[in-house]
Amino acid sequence: MDPSADEPSPGPATAALPPNHHGDHPGFRGPVSYLIGLSMVVAHRHDADLVCDLTGVGAGDTVVDIGCGPGTAARMAARRGAAVTGIDPSPAMLRLARLLTVVQPWRRTGPVTWLQAGVEDMPLADDSTSTCWSLAAVHHWPHLEEGLGEVHRILRPGGTFLALERLTEAGATGMASHGWTPDQADAFARLLTDRGFTDARVQRHEVGRSRRVITVTATRP
Ligand SMILES: C[S@@+](CC[C@H](N)C(=O)[O-])C[C@H]1O[C@@H](n2cnc3c(N)ncnc32)[C@H](O)[C@@H]1O
Repeated sequence: MDPSADEPSPGPATAALPPNHHGDHPGFRGPVSYLIGLSMVVAHRHDADLVCDLTGVGAGDTVVDIGCGPGTAARMAARRGAAVTGIDPSPAMLRLARLLTVVQPWRRTGPVTWLQAGVEDMPLADDSTSTCWSLAAVHHWPHLEEGLGEVHRILRPGGTFLALERLTEAGATGMASHGWTPDQADAFARLLTDRGFTDARVQRHEVGRSRRVITVTATRP
């Protein structure tokens, strides 16, 4: 992992598209979902190490991975000793996450709880979570305000929220648009502040050989 470079604090609202610009995605279902999920395991494999390092998760932490997909980051947090819940609205993704957890006995993890739900309505108790993240998924959340309200509700005071997205270029189309431009990350940081989170921070990172990602972290006061 290359050292991350700090971004300036959120600036003026210049984002052309909102941070959830793929919120109308129909969802992952059917046989092709399994292939897409496997491609995420490969493409996003370095993101899991990055978010575990940035949040410092370990024994004693309760982690919720929102939009966990095939569950790579959830399993990584469990391997580091955290109690982990992976949440995703797609039954196919959760099936794959469960399967990958049992077929990798050489990469043993602690137990992970898998739940089918969207971020808008998470079946978790108030103040129950110390770390909550959403990797390559916020751009698919259909309702940002409701989602952040739920994140705020389940995080305990002092808890950390982290969103990670692939760094994209303004005007990108098709698959190349799945992620955030710096403006979209800044807009999301401002939204977190508006929703009562503190210390919103935007950072760029390079992981693996050449994957460029952008993270937004904030604290639930
Ligand atoms: C591009 S995948 C990323 C999966 C995984 N986090 C990763 O990095 O490999 C986006 C995930 O967000 C999930 N998703 C879509 N809508 C969601 C919602 N409303 N709440 C939570 N997750 C959602 C999708 O089902 C999908 O698994």
